[in-house]
Amino acid sequence: MEKHIVLLPGDGIGPEVTKAAKRVLQAVADRYQHSFTFENHDIGGVAIDQQGTPLPEDTVQAAKKADAIFLGAVGGPKWDQLPGHMRPEKGLLGIRKQLGLFANLRPVKAFNQLLHASPLKQEVVQASDLLIVRELTGGLYFGQPSERRNNGEEVVDTLAYERREIERIVDQAFQSAQVRRKHLTSVDKANVLESSRMWREVVEEKKAAYPDVSVEHMLVDAAAMKLVTNPTYFDVIVTENMFGDILSDEASVLTGSLGMLPSASLNENGVGLYEPVHGSAPDIAGEDKANPLASILSVAMMLKHSFGLEEEAEQVETAVQEVLSGGYHTADIDVKGGTKVSGSELAAKVVDQIGSNDTTENIMRCYV
Ligand SMILES: NC(=O)c1ccc[n+]([C@@H]2O[C@H](COP(=O)([O-])OP(=O)(O)OC[C@H]3O[C@@H](n4cnc5c(N)ncnc54)[C@H](O)[C@@H]3O)[C@@H](O)[C@H]2O)c1
Repeated sequence: MEKHIVLLPGDGIGPEVTKAAKRVLQAVADRYQHSFTFENHDIGGVAIDQQGTPLPEDTVQAAKKADAIFLGAVGGPKWDQLPGHMRPEKGLLGIRKQLGLFANLRPVKAFNQLLHASPLKQEVVQASDLLIVRELTGGLYFGQPSERRNNGEEVVDTLAYERREIERIVDQAFQSAQVRRKHLTSVDKANVLESSRMWREVVEEKKAAYPDVSVEHMLVDAAAMKLVTNPTYFDVIVTENMFGDILSDEASVLTGSLGMLPSASLNENGVGLYEPVHGSAPDIAGEDKANPLASILSVAMMLKHSFGLEEEAEQVETAVQEVLSGGYHTADIDVKGGTKVSGSELAAKVVDQIGSNDTTENIMRCYV
């Protein structure tokens, strides 16, 4: 299979974790005789420095032509004082919008080796394995421009959805549930919000098309509680933009480290942008301490969702499990009795597990 991947390393630890992602993609290509080509572009703070804008046009054009996009992270204190429209984060929001990335998929899985790292009790977290499907381009964050009225004493934000926006994310969630444990929880606030009542209507209409999936509705406050008291209850959660933003951060405590959480954002053509959930971690940037596993697990999502390479994706996930089982970890996660290694060493362990011919030549090729 031939695929062209655009890499957007960005800022802080972004370039380090992007290198790790690229090495893993190359290892998969070597083992399974695929051909992956790569093209680097600027986004975020580095793009502001190089080209005077957080989202240069050449980045957008390259991303539109790519089979998939990998993004490291954007942002950092260097750019914190810039006006809103010039902030690195504008690059990220802009590319999501330009590519129509409406479906944000965040799997949250508790790894046995890291159960002790969660602030929740081990018996609660153990065996948690859920997927949050968040609507990413509508709702409160994209409503009419927020307004201040009455001399600034009154504020208005707008939560707007068109039926078709709800339909496509609900379809995505049902399809995700079909290839998992076939249980879908639709989260809303239908006792208060009209948008949630339409959300429920759509879910009810759609369920006939997915008879193999059991579906239920849950109010967002109840879902927030259940996520930390009984996370194994959930398989797939689908919800609107802001609820998904909050619930997915809450669910991240199950894994014990931000460095373990991957994500995918997909558009209607199956083109996706894959990125770790964490930010640019300026406090450890350039020290080779960044945990690359969230990025490597994002690569597994790319192989599965954009390229349909299920076996290869599973191989990457298994390699991560094996490396953790071997006790290897970066400084952010404490595997009891394990061996602390650098970010690049941890990535190399995963590459070894994937079983590529990881020759010096290969490594050099990946780092150019
Ligand atoms: N998607 C993105 O690009 C994204 C997401 C969140 C934050 N940000 C930006 O990142 C910058 C820093 O934000 P923050 O500090 O709130 O969040 P952060 O995720 O960058 O860091 C939070 C903490 O987690 C640690 N951490 C994060 N990723 C890690 C990894 N892979 N390995 C080891 N430790 C890791 C950091 O060292 C830090 O202590 C800000 O400019 C913020 O706007 C970007």
